[in-house]
Amino acid sequence: MEYELLIQQMRALLAGVEDQVACLANASALLNAALPNINWVGFYLAKDGALWLGPFQGAPACVRIGAGQGVCGAAFAADQTFRVGDVHSFPGHIACDPASRSELVIPLHDAQGVPVAVLDIDSPVFCRFSEADEAGLSAIAKEIERAVWGNGACM
Ligand code: SME
Repeated sequence: MEYELLIQQMRALLAGVEDQVACLANASALLNAALPNINWVGFYLAKDGALWLGPFQGAPACVRIGAGQGVCGAAFAADQTFRVGDVHSFPGHIACDPASRSELVIPLHDAQGVPVAVLDIDSPVFCRFSEADEAGLSAIAKEIERAVWGNGACM
C-alpha cells in the first residue's frame, strides 16, 4: 500500500479544522475508506486515568479501557506502538469485535510529547499489518497529532 498520497489527503482533510471531534471523526472515516481488510478504526482518548472511546468507524466498541488493559492500554502505558499479528495470543486482549484477528495501536501525543490518545486499527485478517504499514500509519498518526494537539492547533 502506498501511504504518501494518504498522508497528503489526511493533512489536507484536517487543515484548519478547529475542533477535536471533527478532526478525529474525519480522520477515522478517511482511514476506513482507504485501508483494505480492516473492521474497526478509531481513537481512544485518555481521561481520568483510563482510555475512553472517541470517534471511530466500525461496530460499537468498549467505552472505557482501564489503565494497562488490552492492546490499547498496554500500548498507551508503554508509549509504544503495538503491532499484534494474532490478537488471540495477546494476554488481556479485549475482543470488542469477535471478528478481529490482528491489531495495530499507535500512541498519540500532545505538543509536549505527552501521550494523550491512541489510534487503534483492527483487522479480521491474521498478520494484516506489515512493518511498512506500521511506518506509513505512524506517519499518518503524526499528521493527526499535529492537527489536533500540535503547536498552532486550535484545541
Ligand atoms: N482490542 C482492543 C480494544 C478496542 S477494540 O478493538 C475497538 C484492545 O485490546 O485494547
